[in-house]
Amino acid sequence: MSYKVSKTIKGEKIEFKNPNPAFYEALGEEGMRKLMYDFYDRIYESDIANFFPQDLQEFEKIKKKNTNFFMQICGGPKVYEDESRGMELNEYMVRLHDDFSIYEKSRLEWLGCMKQSLEQVNIAQELKDDFWNYVERFSKFTVNSFSDGGKFYANL
Ligand code: HEM
Repeated sequence: MSYKVSKTIKGEKIEFKNPNPAFYEALGEEGMRKLMYDFYDRIYESDIANFFPQDLQEFEKIKKKNTNFFMQICGGPKVYEDESRGMELNEYMVRLHDDFSIYEKSRLEWLGCMKQSLEQVNIAQELKDDFWNYVERFSKFTVNSFSDGGKFYANL
């Protein structure tokens, strides 16, 4: 698996499925936390760092929330539930990103950080591939700004 990325096409229907719970089972809570903290450490140094708080205490909060989201979306304990205010988790996550102008270039940077973090993780490649497929597809929903100058907010 080469961590393939396909381009986001404005208005195109995005097919995705949530990660296989076996991914979280293989990592465990500690493994998931490590993965997500490593990922956000890369984000902090990346070309999309400017989207995020630079204050380390504020950034720490994002890391925690992000870890909780991924634990839950991967079939683990429902530790993000309260954040999403009754909305379906993926739906909430898409709408949360509407507040930021995200271009394809930012998505590629985000995915690049995730790829590097996943490569550090020592579990079956097929589980990593399955997780990659989720983030590769799902991240298309977060892209809402296009090089033709247009905006488009995708729905699930
Ligand atoms: C698979 C795709 C993605 C997922 C699952 C995801 C997930 C998340 C999660 C869980 C949070 C924390 C939400 C909270 O506050 O409770 C978050 C926040 C955020 N994400 Fe994403 N994200 C994705 C892609 C992206 C991309 C491509 C960007 C590009 C810049 C991005 C930018 C942000 C920003 C700016 C925040 C908010 C930071 C703040 O609150 O100051 N995300 N994301």
